[in-house]
Amino acid sequence: MQQNPITTVKFLDQASKQFVESIDWDKYSSVFLLCDENTHRECWPKLKSWYPQLFNDEQLIIVEAGEEHKKLQTAEFIWRSLVDSGADRYSLLINLGGGMITDLGAFAASLYQRGIEFIHLPTSLLAMVDAAIGGKTGVDLDNLKNQIGTFNQPKAILVFDDFLETLDDEEYLSGMAEVYKHALVKDSSLWSELISISNDRLSLQLIKKAANIKAEIVEQDPLELFIRKVLNFGHTIGHAIESNFLSYGNPIPHGYAIAAGMICEAYLSKEFSTLSDEDFQSIVNTLKEKYPKLEWTEDDEPQMIKTMLADKKNKGGEIRMVLLQDIGKATFDHSISQEQIHSALKCYREL
Ligand SMILES: NC(=O)c1ccc[n+]([C@@H]2O[C@H](COP(=O)([O-])OP(=O)(O)OC[C@H]3O[C@@H](n4cnc5c(N)ncnc54)[C@H](O)[C@@H]3O)[C@@H](O)[C@H]2O)c1
Repeated sequence: MQQNPITTVKFLDQASKQFVESIDWDKYSSVFLLCDENTHRECWPKLKSWYPQLFNDEQLIIVEAGEEHKKLQTAEFIWRSLVDSGADRYSLLINLGGGMITDLGAFAASLYQRGIEFIHLPTSLLAMVDAAIGGKTGVDLDNLKNQIGTFNQPKAILVFDDFLETLDDEEYLSGMAEVYKHALVKDSSLWSELISISNDRLSLQLIKKAANIKAEIVEQDPLELFIRKVLNFGHTIGHAIESNFLSYGNPIPHGYAIAAGMICEAYLSKEFSTLSDEDFQSIVNTLKEKYPKLEWTEDDEPQMIKTMLADKKNKGGEIRMVLLQDIGKATFDHSISQEQIHSALKCYREL
């Protein structure tokens, strides 16, 4: 498939004309807007009031909020809504939401009539610095995260940080996990900045920095054949933790699971790569202080490992993982045994 690596993230001021000029409106036969019930309530009124000439309620497709709705049935609902509204191959879908909406909307758009164009307007911190960037689209299959999906780049990623005003603290903290991750795999000076700030909210400059780290890595490797793999740090174990909570009908914010996954994978980095004790402690102390301790039992772990064995990053039945050599330097494709993973999960449980 032809790739279209549009990874530039544009941070916009709602008072400027940039948004209107960023989209080639005449090119599209119709424009639809996907949101979940929360972004419909909190973000849609803002967008509509900033650009009343561009948007009206008829364009809306609203789905229920939450990871449990990032599934094929919801994509089907979007496809039916598009059919019912007469969307054709020249329609545009704008995804107004967090990572759940950008993943789901991009997935639905990439398959509707073999693919229509889409634009992301991320509204959560996590989507602004991570999920909206890079062209991974997807839905979950039962408890397996992002098991079904495509690579397909958005036509644009347009960010209004004004949307963060209504994002609650729990979701903001969830997004922070991906900011920490970007620092850990690529930018030790960002890590130093992050651990020295006392504010719970980040400056726009730090948000841009985190988004740019992702964009630069994706630009080099859009299909995740090499360097992009480092962005999976914390995610092999993190996704299994997230799936474990989902399987009990108790979803937790994505970033909380990733923060726990990063502690486990930092432990493996100390044991099986060159991460120093001191850096390991810096990671543990920072993430432990910020995030609630997640509880699971030893009995959950065989199923968690089974989930890891289904991970897309594996090859030949081996669990592959990203490890840190140092803060700011990651390497990928490390084969990690089930016993080693058990020891990492135990390390977290006993913190
Ligand atoms: N494609 C990728 O590369 C990639 C990368 C990282 C994460 N992800 C995916 O992203 C998802 C997590 O993203 P998320 O944390 O943004 O989840 P989310 O979209 O579920 O948003 C979290 C909650 O915040 C609400 N919300 C979002 N913006 C808001 C706003 N401005 N004001 C008020 N409420 C708002 C949502 O309605 C939801 O209830 C997961 O599905 C994960 O797999 C994808």
